[in-house]
Amino acid sequence: MSSASGPDAIASGPGSGLRGPQLSDFPWDSLARQTATAQSHPDGIVNLSVGTPVDPVPANLQRALSAVADQPGYPATHGTPQLREAAVAALRRRHGVSGLEPDAVLPTIGSKELVAWLPTLLGVRAGDIVAIPELAYPTYEVGAKIAGAEVVRLAPGEPPPAGTALQWLNSPSNPTGQVLDAQQLADSIRAARERGAVVASDECYLALGWDAEPVSVLHPSVCSDFRGVLAVHSLSKSSNLAGYRAGFVTGDPELVSRVLEVRKHAGMIVPRPVQEAITAALSDDVHVGVQRELYAARRAVLRPALEAAGFRIDHSQAGLYLWATRGDDAWQTVDWLARRGILVAPGTFYGPGGDRHVRIALTATDERIAAAAKRLGE
Ligand SMILES: Cc1ncc(COP(=O)(O)O)c(C=O)c1O
Repeated sequence: MSSASGPDAIASGPGSGLRGPQLSDFPWDSLARQTATAQSHPDGIVNLSVGTPVDPVPANLQRALSAVADQPGYPATHGTPQLREAAVAALRRRHGVSGLEPDAVLPTIGSKELVAWLPTLLGVRAGDIVAIPELAYPTYEVGAKIAGAEVVRLAPGEPPPAGTALQWLNSPSNPTGQVLDAQQLADSIRAARERGAVVASDECYLALGWDAEPVSVLHPSVCSDFRGVLAVHSLSKSSNLAGYRAGFVTGDPELVSRVLEVRKHAGMIVPRPVQEAITAALSDDVHVGVQRELYAARRAVLRPALEAAGFRIDHSQAGLYLWATRGDDAWQTVDWLARRGILVAPGTFYGPGGDRHVRIALTATDERIAAAAKRLGE
């Protein structure tokens, strides 16, 4: 008998014939050297490479979560009726969306998880195309690959090719902060419909418009017929709930109900205490306004400091990132900033077209943002 050890055993062992999705290395792992450089700064690292909230979870949302901590039973996949009604009311109040039925709201565990699994849940398969923005949040591509589909990157306004089953829109954009106006959104929906494609609009930065007012894909100025249109919402940024994993998807009642049916079988149910926190967050606009002001103030410090240090800021009318360039290769700029103790993401994480930009997040404390601005001026 041969010994079952060594590389040959692994290559021919159980599971060796299985092939998972062929994903590239996780982009942020490639920042290890620059992270170490930035950490060695005498005044510590200013980490602006990820968009993770740093301010406290609003006290009313913490209370809502803990008020329903005694939950021995399974929660409803569709969420509570109160959550669905709060989502419809919040979209109407905050973003002028009308004509939405509460049953067409489905809570999700965060929105990254939905983005990664939506193609699969909708039945996108090998041979289909998933169209994503030219510069895009990496999980759109991951979700397409999990479903075995092909990814096509589209320039703003470019129609999707034949064979497109799903098109992602993202306004305000991660990473560029670009905002699509109502006409551009309506044109995108029309072009996708001509191809028979579903449009999924990722609206997680909708509440964070600075120099432009972002509009929901479900706003009456964009479309009144929601067929084939989904809006994906996250509570992570507007309500500091990234740690709770809280979001929802809404829009076309038929598509939402198809996703709900699959999820009733497959799970990914939002825990009941988190459902309660989502309901509280969607019922209160005060904390959203407070958080907005914090980010506006950080942006007002960081943007001029970058410009004074020779950066040009492109787009960035909304959202939580500054899309910045000095005209150099993206990785050279990452290194330049790391030597000043500031860690940012190279634009190439979001697509080949980002090779001269870096993405700089506003998600750090006032103290760390001030430290970054000071270092840029030295
Ligand atoms: C464009 C975009 N969509 C979705 C997400 C996922 O957010 P979450 O999973 O926290 O809801 C992010 C996170 O940064 C994002 O930038």
